[in-house]
Amino acid sequence: MTKGELLYEGKAKKVFRTDDENRCIVSYKDDATAFNGAKKGTIRGKGAINNRVTNRLMKLIEEKGIPTHFVEQISETDTVVKKVVIVPLEVIVRNIAAGSLSKRLGIPEGTPLRSTVLEFCYKNDELGDPLVNDWHILAMDLASKEDLAVIADYAQRINHILGELLEDVHISLIDFKLEFGKLPSGEIVLADEISPDTCRLWDTRTGEKLDKDRFRRDLGGVEDAYAEVFDRLVGGA
Ligand code: TMP
Repeated sequence: MTKGELLYEGKAKKVFRTDDENRCIVSYKDDATAFNGAKKGTIRGKGAINNRVTNRLMKLIEEKGIPTHFVEQISETDTVVKKVVIVPLEVIVRNIAAGSLSKRLGIPEGTPLRSTVLEFCYKNDELGDPLVNDWHILAMDLASKEDLAVIADYAQRINHILGELLEDVHISLIDFKLEFGKLPSGEIVLADEISPDTCRLWDTRTGEKLDKDRFRRDLGGVEDAYAEVFDRLVGGA
């Protein structure tokens, strides 16, 4: 499959047209941003790690019965995916308080949540991806009631699948962000990526942060943390 015209360039990935109108090629970059693009940097090797980690997780999720956009990895940084229309929501799943939830609700980071928290943000850079609830989503027609129910079900099932896998490699899944897309048939599929850019991953035994918070918070050891997640998830597979 050959790479055609650049369709879209995001902060961490490029999306290219292909000779098949139902397929795109996603190309992962080493570029990193935080705080809606206000902080910029490069994480060496990130593109290849996020590509391979995402594909490993997408394959597992698909095997467990949840449809994804994944088709085939074609290079270290490039993957063929099904062309979808992205549902303009960031779907955040939280198991342990951290980040914006801790800040907003005054719950110290690391506090286990009594039950899983599902949050939705409206994907809109100009507005800074504001938090929305089901009522906003329906009122703004960001997703239908039926699609929202499917998305919420998939998100919780993915949380269990990833939580178990990560537990086996001594990583705690604190929280993560998902995006979903719609195929021409109307089917909802998991899209985008699942990587240390989009998850909070803490070493279960030491509590060490193994994710993008090392970049966001200038903690150092960013590349090593990404490589550690890669080794534990893909290295031995
Ligand atoms: P938050 O605590 O900053 O809201 O982040 C929740 C989770 O979502 C965390 O695992 C990081 C991820 N995330 C993204 O993938 N992209 C984003 O733009 C933001 C703000 C968070």
